[in-house]
Amino acid sequence: ATTKLWGGRFTAEPSEYVQRFGASIEFDQLLAEEDIQGSLAHVQMLGEQGIIAVSEAKQIEAGLKQLQQQLEAGKLHFSIANEDIHLNLEKALTDLIGPVAGKLHTARSRNDQVALDMHLYLRNRLHEILPLIVALQKTLVAKAESHVTTVMPGYTHLQHAQPISYAHYLLAYENMFQRDYERLTFNLKHTDISPLGAAALAGTTFPIDRERTAELLDFSAVYHNSLDAVSDRDFILEFLSNTAILMMHLSRMCEELVLWSSQEFSYIELSDTYATGSSIMPQKKNPDMAELIRGKTGRIYGDLFGLLTVMKGLPLAYNKDLQEDKEGMFDAVNTVIMSLKVMQGMVDTLQVKTDRMKHATVHDFSNATELADYLAKKGLPFRQAHEIVGETVLKCIKAGKFLKDLTLEEYQKISPLIEADVYTALDPMTAVANRDSLGGTGFDEIKKELERAKVQLSNH
Ligand code: ARG
Repeated sequence: ATTKLWGGRFTAEPSEYVQRFGASIEFDQLLAEEDIQGSLAHVQMLGEQGIIAVSEAKQIEAGLKQLQQQLEAGKLHFSIANEDIHLNLEKALTDLIGPVAGKLHTARSRNDQVALDMHLYLRNRLHEILPLIVALQKTLVAKAESHVTTVMPGYTHLQHAQPISYAHYLLAYENMFQRDYERLTFNLKHTDISPLGAAALAGTTFPIDRERTAELLDFSAVYHNSLDAVSDRDFILEFLSNTAILMMHLSRMCEELVLWSSQEFSYIELSDTYATGSSIMPQKKNPDMAELIRGKTGRIYGDLFGLLTVMKGLPLAYNKDLQEDKEGMFDAVNTVIMSLKVMQGMVDTLQVKTDRMKHATVHDFSNATELADYLAKKGLPFRQAHEIVGETVLKCIKAGKFLKDLTLEEYQKISPLIEADVYTALDPMTAVANRDSLGGTGFDEIKKELERAKVQLSNH
């Protein structure tokens, strides 16, 4: 036998180098709290079921609680020789309470133990992440409320398309984050299932009570197939997929923060507290935080593809490859928490340059659709109206004018249908206000949407 906890059938120790390669303790120590929590539930059930003596269960429980305190005090030390968090904690427990610690692992395997830890860990983190999404949504709603009548160019192909309200723009992201919230809430459902008691792969001959441990750990359900229980990492893949989408949303908005804070746009100015300077160019104010969120999105995509690739050829049930499920998940958790916090503060503190936005809508052709619609409402087929307005825009470009600059005389030559009220129609404020179709940018429509969003958020 060797010194390993599983050393019975071994006659030689792996080299230091091999042990280091196989060990996960350097990263899975993040699961320590959840591992102890899982063990507490398991040992209580073992005692209740008479699988071990109640006195033994109590001894183990007391030891585990001591480990909990040591962990909180930062006094637990782990070693590569003990491979992973599960064996490290079992070793620490043995050192503390002696051989009775060896009864804790009755009717359990590291395979269901690690799966349990991952479920508990992710469930805890989801409960942290969901409120951060809500906080960002609330910030977007608050910002939108003070900018209902702030008009700016709406873009397609990054070309001025039609004027919109800045609040409408903000609420577009609020809607995306609502779907992210819903996806992660569903993700929580698949994370909230207990694999404990699946043991190595096939269940156990001991009279365990899986529903009891699930209840003690506050799980809503148990896995119904032991092979699935120990080899399922869908809940992590869902998390990585959902956070990949969430980060993509953050990244798109960040791209606009970067663009809009440039001199060319100057639609917004980031707070000094969310910008950085240059070590050589004294005038610089760089949107580093927005760029970093955009950049970190790549890490999450990497985490997702890493785990998808780990999983794709794995035979049932447990394989050591599954140890590779951890770092990507930890990285994604950390990245998404930081990104959401930074984004919320950055949006909350940014200054909106309403004059610049307005200026951009007055000095462009984003009211061309208004003129075409104006003619169409007077009976001209829209296709024909489109053609006439297109020709008018071309003439204006050549003359260095905008549509509002043409005189009524000029307009009447273009079409006798055009009257003095055309100038009101061409005004960007009117253009936005009148787009009051359901879900449109019209001010009244936005006000309704703000109310809907607030009710929705109050239910989260
Ligand atoms: N450190 C391992 C992991 O993270 C724990 C499970 C090990 N089980 C085993 N049979 N080797 O996957």
